[in-house]
Amino acid sequence: MATRNRAAFMVAAALYLGGGAVRAAEPRIALPAPQLNTGMPLMQALSRRASNRDFARRPLSLQTLGGLLWAADGINRPDSGKRTAPSAHNRQEVQIFAAKADGLYRYDAPTHALVLVRARDVRALTGRQRFPAHAPLNLVYVIDFNRTPGVPRAAAIEAGAVATGAIVQNVYLYCASAGLASVVRGWIDKKALAKAMGLGPRQYIVVAQTVGYPPGSK
Ligand SMILES: Cc1cc2nc3c(=O)[nH]c(=O)nc-3n(C[C@H](O)[C@H](O)[C@H](O)COP(=O)(O)O)c2cc1C
Repeated sequence: MATRNRAAFMVAAALYLGGGAVRAAEPRIALPAPQLNTGMPLMQALSRRASNRDFARRPLSLQTLGGLLWAADGINRPDSGKRTAPSAHNRQEVQIFAAKADGLYRYDAPTHALVLVRARDVRALTGRQRFPAHAPLNLVYVIDFNRTPGVPRAAAIEAGAVATGAIVQNVYLYCASAGLASVVRGWIDKKALAKAMGLGPRQYIVVAQTVGYPPGSK
């Protein structure tokens, strides 16, 4: 390997392997299919479901990200396109945004992929506490009123918040099963976050949820 190429390789490897550096945002991240034969029995996962606020900084593996987002609100019945979480009249109005160090993405359930929204680290703005800025992943749940035509705003928020709660619990249970830490959060400067995310007037932030490895975990 020529010296220059070797130097470039070493830099790329250092970025990839950690050292606090961040990989460049990708326009689209195809997620691995969920491994349906893994995880702990439901009753054990329920017994471990808890909020935790200490997170290691290392990023989640792609396989974990794929499993987590599918568990959250992925398509579990391809024939109908229905999801792991319920929604009123199957409106599927809750959008899941993933704030990672390399950028802000939207989970696209039909293609099971993350689609880049902004190549900007907005993690610190996803909550008023300190840990969201350093945890590898903050999910932000947003109601898309374009999917609730004719529904009064208050009713759309109520239904969307209930659907979000189901997604939140799916994520908690996946985390309990996979040995990840998580906490749902409502303490957010929603105006500042909506601006940083580039949301429009027909989008409403419900809550955010931080996910990561517990400190010291392998
Ligand atoms: C709607 C909602 C909003 C919450 N907001 C926050 C928050 O902003 N920050 C936080 O650290 N925890 C937040 N929590 C987590 C609760 O504090 C936590 O669920 C509660 O203390 C019970 O603990 P457990 O989840 O371990 O059972 C929130 C929970 C819910 C349901």
